[in-house]
Amino acid sequence: MTVPLLLAPWPTPLAHDLAAALGAEPGALEVRRFPDGESFVRLDTSPAGRDVVVVASLDHPDEKLVALVLLCATARELGARSVRLVAPYLGYLRQDRRFRDGEAVSARVFPRLLGPWLDGLVTVDPHLHRIHDLAEVYDVPCRVVHAAPAIAAWVATHVDRPLIVGPDSESAQWAEDVATRAGAPWIVLEKVRHGDRDVEVSVPDVERWRDRTPVLVDDIVSTGRTLVQTLGHLARAGMRPATCVGVHALFAGDALDALRAAGAGRIVTTDAVTHPTNGIGLAEALADAVRSLAG
Ligand code: R5P
Repeated sequence: MTVPLLLAPWPTPLAHDLAAALGAEPGALEVRRFPDGESFVRLDTSPAGRDVVVVASLDHPDEKLVALVLLCATARELGARSVRLVAPYLGYLRQDRRFRDGEAVSARVFPRLLGPWLDGLVTVDPHLHRIHDLAEVYDVPCRVVHAAPAIAAWVATHVDRPLIVGPDSESAQWAEDVATRAGAPWIVLEKVRHGDRDVEVSVPDVERWRDRTPVLVDDIVSTGRTLVQTLGHLARAGMRPATCVGVHALFAGDALDALRAAGAGRIVTTDAVTHPTNGIGLAEALADAVRSLAG
């Protein structure tokens, strides 16, 4: 890969850091809306003969998709050798089946809108459940960066006597990975369902952990309600105020206030989605993934 051309249609600190980590040339471009709301894109740096890296996290994807497609298509038309997208947060993965008759399975449709304009895709911890691999929906080479090493390094240096806590059994693998890397113990909360709306959640072996700082880890913080509920369970069990760590800081609506009101201690996220809680940088890991994709 020669010196890549990095295009950030919505500049972020991470895009800046990634350009530095890759030794890429930041390209000049204009992305805006016409008065009627249509998207306008102009490349001021020629992509001809260049390996183009587009950096755009896909939170609020509806607001970004058209401009992103215009950008990638135009880079190709103007002679880019390759166009690879770094989307640290890749939206539209949670609706991965028809939960009720007639629903759009957006996790399968959205990639068909975006994928054809790309030669490669890099993302961070995509939310995959019923779809097991991005290659099932994106027909381009993909690389996935895992945030666990960066989160574990942050926990090891910022949290006194941490106890990694997964909110539910689905998070067990994730909690174990972070804990092992941070050299910390880990638990997942135990749910006993007595009925549709009657769920009891308990902290296993609680006495053993009272002198530890719980560290809640989740991949997405959207409404924050998953973490809010978990904070409630930990508080009722008499645990210390928990540190909350999220990979993708979507923070819809009042999520941040709700977390604070629920007694969260520190709240920290990776810079995959730009947010005031960002404190864990992923630029180096993303740069490695881009290089491996190009190689
Ligand atoms: C669920 O499967 C995810 O891992 C997250 O726990 C969920 O998306 C968080 O959403 P919210 O912040 O709205 O509770």
